[in-house]
Amino acid sequence: MRFPDGFVWGVSSSAYQIEGAAAEDGRGPSIWDTFSHAPGRIADGSTGDEACDHYHRHAEDVGLMKGLGVRAYRFSVSWSRVLPDGAGKVNAAGLDFYERLTDDLLGQGIAPYATLYHWDLPQALEDRGGWPSRDTAERFADYAAVVHERLGDRVDTWFTINEPWVASFLGYAAGTHAPGRRSAAEAFRSAHHMLLAHGLGAGALREAGARRIGVALNLSPVLTPGQLGDQDQELTPEDAGAVSRIDALLNRQFLDPMLRGSYPPELLEVVERHAGLDHVRDGDLDLIARPIDVLGVNYYAPHVVQAQPSRPGEPAFPGSEGVLFAATPGPATAMGWPIVPSGLTVLLRRLAADHPGLDLMVTENGADFGDGERDAERVAFIEAHVRAAHAAISDGVRLRGFLAWTLMDNFEWADGYRRKFGLVHVDFATQRRAERDSARWFREVIARNGLPAAPRPTLETVAARAGVSRATVSRVVNGEASVRPEVRARVQAAVEELGYVPNQAARSLVTRRTGTVALVLSGPRHDNAALVSAVVQYVTSVLEASGRQVRLMLADSEQSHRRVLAQAEGRHVDGMILLPPDRQDPLAERLAETEVPLVLLGGPLVAAERAGGGPVVAADDAGGGAAVARHLRELGRSRPAVLTGPGAAAGERVRGFLEVFPRAEVSDDAGRLLTGQPEAARTEAVRTHTVRPDAVFAVTDALALEVLGIAREAGLRVPEDLAVAGFGDGEAGRHTLPALTTVAVPVTELALALARSLLSALDGQPVAPSVLPVHLEVRGSTVSGGR
Ligand code: FCB
Repeated sequence: MRFPDGFVWGVSSSAYQIEGAAAEDGRGPSIWDTFSHAPGRIADGSTGDEACDHYHRHAEDVGLMKGLGVRAYRFSVSWSRVLPDGAGKVNAAGLDFYERLTDDLLGQGIAPYATLYHWDLPQALEDRGGWPSRDTAERFADYAAVVHERLGDRVDTWFTINEPWVASFLGYAAGTHAPGRRSAAEAFRSAHHMLLAHGLGAGALREAGARRIGVALNLSPVLTPGQLGDQDQELTPEDAGAVSRIDALLNRQFLDPMLRGSYPPELLEVVERHAGLDHVRDGDLDLIARPIDVLGVNYYAPHVVQAQPSRPGEPAFPGSEGVLFAATPGPATAMGWPIVPSGLTVLLRRLAADHPGLDLMVTENGADFGDGERDAERVAFIEAHVRAAHAAISDGVRLRGFLAWTLMDNFEWADGYRRKFGLVHVDFATQRRAERDSARWFREVIARNGLPAAPRPTLETVAARAGVSRATVSRVVNGEASVRPEVRARVQAAVEELGYVPNQAARSLVTRRTGTVALVLSGPRHDNAALVSAVVQYVTSVLEASGRQVRLMLADSEQSHRRVLAQAEGRHVDGMILLPPDRQDPLAERLAETEVPLVLLGGPLVAAERAGGGPVVAADDAGGGAAVARHLRELGRSRPAVLTGPGAAAGERVRGFLEVFPRAEVSDDAGRLLTGQPEAARTEAVRTHTVRPDAVFAVTDALALEVLGIAREAGLRVPEDLAVAGFGDGEAGRHTLPALTTVAVPVTELALALARSLLSALDGQPVAPSVLPVHLEVRGSTVSGGR
């Protein structure tokens, strides 16, 4: 998946979120200094006083960007660093900083993109009325000219304002952002004045000779819950009204004045009701609609709404009475924002259709996903959105670049430092930066100008390998009888060596494609609920981003097995992912006999049994079992018991354990099936296993937790008398006392591997089985004083 030549990959940031040095070198306070210092405004009580200390560490940070290979860096200029009072006296030292930064960037071959306003209005201007006052828009134009005068010979891409909707409605209506006011009237006036500031600022920049001018808007498709699953769904007039009103408030309030020179009529009614229209003066719209060169699109999630007559308006959306902002089922980021990559494609297509000829750029996209450096979820999120962007480009959308939000963890506004959006992790105690997996992944994408794909052997490569003509290969592959046996054997050997799969694209000319794939869940999983939810989440988002519909199916009864089989046999789906293929479960085998590409989640044994079938993705269950066994041995335990359950994974875990701990040393009843027995018998069995040995390895965390309970009842000390280890998602046992030693299964990676394998299989590419490494997490249930 390659992007057009010259496509710009980069990262975005903003001044108050990273710079720190809040009172240094003559910087004046901004509304975010005031707001963050007021009690109770920021979730973790923090401020941006120090943030990432980027003011002093910009050279290191530019080095990080250079390391990623980005072509552009979009940063914002702090207005009150340049004009401490918002207007009047210029602080040369403030401009010096941006000059140093710009020169650093250029020195490393990175294009500086400057945003002039990312929410940090000088407090002095707020004191004189803030954005509800028209004067602020005029001061913005002066400020734009001052910055351009110093940097204009080196910065050629300018963004006037970042997300005016957020700045005006969260700042002045909902009050959750600086300056924290709560007035619908002021919010609408602010929005208009930000539009005006954009127009006046763009004018000042243009006059000064700026080459490329744009704006960065937060834009979201507005959909009903039904449209989330099916974009073409017909809406009731009420729902259509709700969608249109929120779209007018969120998107068209900004797009239409800037790009068409008018407000949407239905919006004007709302504005008039809340704020009157006096603040909109004759000629304003002409100023606002000055031509721009690029529209920056900040996309994170769609807005999902539906009509609900009795509903009061949302504070951030004055005018939204009668509209319910619906919770979205399905995957979400740690921030709770729904993950809907296809929304980006929908949005970009719409912008291209509504405003033909305008260059677009994704100026922000990224996600909050916890603190770790192994951030497969962030990779998945951005990858899915990169695919979604590519889909739009394939439709002819003029998308010129993709800037990830954001280079490094930073001050995430009202949420403080709890939110982690960085490709680079920041330890705020030491200011140490460390690349996450997502940074490494992004570097690869940039280097390739696209997403990596497995090389695909062609008929020609097979022909060259076998030393025959292409036509001969084609005849063998198509099963024609007219080929001599020794030639056939040679071709078949080459096909196997190269992993050639007949070209699916050509086939699809004759076979009907449905654009739908099925995700089949067979029954409750004993081993790992977190895995199932991760699979549902990532498989859905990755496959949807590739333009497919995902159909979720349950296969927990004979009847449902038949339904699933019928889907495959009737080719109602293009491919299937099945979990889990239990060894006692014939569904996998029967599906493998159909034509439909199938990917399984299962243990390596299952893979071996199905040699020649579809690709399998599995965790290294045996390796995990062995790791537990080695750990117990190192602790000097000599009489372990093993508690097992049904399913291939359990079998593999035990097998791995027994590779290290010979069966003879394991307590006699090892390996008995516990799950599925009547409650009393089962408890009794667990009890016997728990009381005699000096260690227990349970194949699931759930079972291990039972053991902990029984040990407590029996007066056994854990881990002194009995060491206990489980196997699972690493979460369930984190909060017990003592916490449970367990094998963490890389759920996100497994889920991603499933999705990617199916995509490759659908493309007709060869897909090798993948066995992913697991990780032993040692805690207090095996090592006293452990975490
Ligand atoms: C956008 C903002 C940016 C950051 C991301 C997560 O709305 O422009 O500063 O907060 O969201």
